[in-house]
Amino acid sequence: MSHAELLARHRAVMPAWLALYYDEPIEIVRGSGRRVEDAEGRRYLDFFAGILTNAIGYDIAEINAAITEQVARGVLHTSTLYLIRSQVELAERIARLSGIPDAKVFFTNSGTEANETALMLATQYRRSNQVLALRNSYHGRAFGTIAITGNRGWSATSLSPLRVSHVHGGYRYRSPFRHLSDEDYVRACVADLRDVLATTTAGDVACMIVEPVQGVGGFTLPPRGLFAAFKEVLDEHGVLLVSDEVQTGWGRTGDHFWGIQAHGVVPDAMTFAKGLGNGLAIGGVVARGELMDAITAQSISTFGGNPLATAGANAVLDYLENHDLQANAAKLGTRLLTGLRAATEHNEIVGDVRGVGLMIGVELVEPGGDTPNPRAAARVLEEAKARGLLVGKGGLHGNVVRMAPPMTLTEDEADEGLEALVAALESVRRETTGDATP
Ligand SMILES: Cc1ncc(COP(=O)(O)O)c(C=O)c1O
Repeated sequence: MSHAELLARHRAVMPAWLALYYDEPIEIVRGSGRRVEDAEGRRYLDFFAGILTNAIGYDIAEINAAITEQVARGVLHTSTLYLIRSQVELAERIARLSGIPDAKVFFTNSGTEANETALMLATQYRRSNQVLALRNSYHGRAFGTIAITGNRGWSATSLSPLRVSHVHGGYRYRSPFRHLSDEDYVRACVADLRDVLATTTAGDVACMIVEPVQGVGGFTLPPRGLFAAFKEVLDEHGVLLVSDEVQTGWGRTGDHFWGIQAHGVVPDAMTFAKGLGNGLAIGGVVARGELMDAITAQSISTFGGNPLATAGANAVLDYLENHDLQANAAKLGTRLLTGLRAATEHNEIVGDVRGVGLMIGVELVEPGGDTPNPRAAARVLEEAKARGLLVGKGGLHGNVVRMAPPMTLTEDEADEGLEALVAALESVRRETTGDATP
C-alpha cells in the first residue's frame, strides 16, 4: 500500500494545484537507461523522462562519475562570488554551440528563471515593457513568465509586469489558418503579427519570445520558416527575438541542435534548462554580449551554475556529443512518428499526430470531428501505464498525449513503446466508440 499511503501524505501537505498523473499516482524509486521501477516493484519504459529532463536517461556512468568526483572534492556550492572553472567551461561551450555572435551566458536553476532573465535583458535593452508571445505558449511560473504564457490552464494570475500581445502561429491544428498551405499559413501569421504590432502596441516592443515546438502546448509546431518570416518584420521595428529552447534544445528535435535552427534564423537570445542537467537543477540564457550586459544593477542567482550542476552538465554535453544523440533523436523520432501515423490512421479518436525528433504528440478528439477529448487522453495514459509505458499529457485542452523519451533510446525500445502506445490508443478507441469487435 506504499503508493496509497504516500499519496494521502502528499495531499495533506502539498498544494492542491500540484497535479499528479494517474488515478493511482506512482513513486519512481529506481532507474536504469530508459527504464524505471516504482515503489511497488512495477517496471516501466519511460517515454516522458521527467518532463524531457532525463535527456540521457537513468544511472549513466559517465554523469554519475562527474557528480561523485565533485562530491568527493567536498565542494557542492561556492556562489557566483568566486570563479567556478566548470561554470566557465560550460558557458564557453554553450556560447560556441549557440551560433550567436559574441555570446555570453548566465546560469539559473530553472527554465522559469532563464526566461525571466531573458525578459529582463530585452526590456532593459529596449527600454520597453512590451513583449510579443505566441498563443498556446508556456514559459514558466513566475510573474513575467505567466504573463507571456498563452494557455489559460497555466495562467494563475493576470498580474503582470509586462504589456503582452499574443500572436497566431504556434498551434496549427486549431488555428483559423489551419486549412491553408504552409506558404499561405506563414503569410497569414505574418499579416497577423503586423496587425498586432499596429493595433495592440506602441510600436517600440522589446522582444518576441517563441517556443520552436510548443511543449506544454502539446508538441505543436509551425511550418519551417515561420520564425524567419517573423524576424523580418521584427527587424523592421528593432524588436529582439528570444527562442525558448527549454524543451527543444540539445538536439532533441533531431534535425538541429536548437529548435529555432529549423527556421534558418539566429535569435538574439536563447533560454535553456531541463535536459542540460539530466536531472540536476540548471538553466540559463545565452545572448549577444551587448544584450547580456544591458543590466545596469547587480544581479545574481545564488545557486545558478554551481560547481555540482555545471560538473554534471559538462558531462551531459560530453555524452550528447560523444554518442551523437542528436542523430539518434532524428532517426528514432522518424521511426516513432511514421509508425504512429500508420498505426492510427483509422483510429477515430486520433485527430493529429505531429512532432519532430523525440517530441511527438497525439491530439485526441471526439470520434468523427475535432472536439478536444481530454478524457481519452487521461485514459490513454492509464492504458499505457498498464502496458508498462509512461507517457506525458499536454495541450491547451489537456487532450494531447506526449512522447519524449531519453535521447539514448534504442530501436528495440522505440518499437516496444510504440506497440504499447498504439495498443493503448486502440483500447481507448474501442471504449469511446463502444466497439465490441474482438
Ligand atoms: C518551454 C518551457 N519554458 C519554460 C519552462 C519552465 O521551466 P521550469 O519548470 O524549469 O521553471 C518550461 C517547463 O515546462 C517549458 O516547457
